[in-house]
Amino acid sequence: MRAFVLTGYGGPDVASLREVPVPEPGRGEVRIDVKAAGLNPVDFKTREGKLRLINRYALPVVLGCELSGVVVSVGEGVTRFRPGDEVFARVAKERLGAFAETACVHEDLVAKKPASLDFVHAAAMPLASLTALQALRDELAVEEGMRVFIPGAAGGVGTFALQIAKHLGATVATTASPRGRALVERLGADVVVDYTTQDFTKELRDYDAAFDLVGGDTLEGAFSVVRRGGKVVSIAGLPEPTTATKDLHRGAGLATLFWIVSAGLRFRAWRAGVAYRYLFMRPSGKDLEVLASLVDAKKLEVVVDQVFSFAKIAEAFAYLEKGRAKGKVVVTMG
Ligand SMILES: NC(=O)c1ccc[n+]([C@@H]2O[C@H](COP(=O)([O-])OP(=O)(O)OC[C@H]3O[C@@H](n4cnc5c(N)ncnc54)[C@H](OP(=O)(O)O)[C@@H]3O)[C@@H](O)[C@H]2O)c1
Repeated sequence: MRAFVLTGYGGPDVASLREVPVPEPGRGEVRIDVKAAGLNPVDFKTREGKLRLINRYALPVVLGCELSGVVVSVGEGVTRFRPGDEVFARVAKERLGAFAETACVHEDLVAKKPASLDFVHAAAMPLASLTALQALRDELAVEEGMRVFIPGAAGGVGTFALQIAKHLGATVATTASPRGRALVERLGADVVVDYTTQDFTKELRDYDAAFDLVGGDTLEGAFSVVRRGGKVVSIAGLPEPTTATKDLHRGAGLATLFWIVSAGLRFRAWRAGVAYRYLFMRPSGKDLEVLASLVDAKKLEVVVDQVFSFAKIAEAFAYLEKGRAKGKVVVTMG
């Protein structure tokens, strides 16, 4: 079968389409005929070797974090799926493998594809929508009447986060360039600050919580937008000790390292009176079922920016790496 394989760490040249053996499903796994796969910034960060401290792969490895497709066979012990089921999944972080014509995924990470979506839109969902759900529901406990700041809501995670926060009953402020304004307004943003011409820290005050998708100065600016006693969760800033223990299930060594790298940032959060948390999302078939039901109830729209054929996956990477995507980028296996 064809797969997009990483053979070293570096620029675009270290990953290419190759013929590899078809994987066999192990115990508890389903084998999926992949119809489409979504791209995420973590794919090029993995290729660049930026996540080696967290996930070490024995190279060569097939890249790709999320997919949609049809179950073709099941391994021993599988109870929830059978051949013919149309499914989607955020695959295991320690294994990857979604950029391939066939993939094996543990059934706990898989859910039935939303009935109202085609394979392209279903493949665009798992990683970004799970991240948004877990940040807003589990970490920030967003509920009716809360005021939430979500900088950068025009991208892959942001388009889901904005809609989920609205669904949970929040008033949402975001930042966008003129390129993304119409999209975030259509998805329900109550306040939109043009980050290319305005300083959002002067426009927004006393928000209950922030979900940062941008990092850097934007994350630090969010500390002054959130009221004292509020919480800021980032997926683009610096990891802190809880990231190591709760999200990565690692010991004191990594927690200490993250304590050191995030010390300045945590100090500035403390001075602003806000709690800071860096979240690594968690693959989950159960959470995908929740998201699928929101989609089928027309409460969540999946925004796809561009679709590429699998043969043009390198172009899809180059497009995503520009950082301007409005919604998601997807490849189809065809
Ligand atoms: N920790 C985790 O578990 C986790 C999970 C998912 C994603 N992430 C990380 O989260 C970040 C966002 O991911 P994504 O998939 O949403 O990325 P993305 O789709 O590539 O985001 C692109 C969007 O970001 C907007 N943008 C860029 N700079 C901005 C700024 N300064 N202010 C406001 N908006 C800005 C762009 O809008 P314009 O073109 O209009 O500027 C574009 O629409 C990435 O760093 C990714 O690696 C982490």
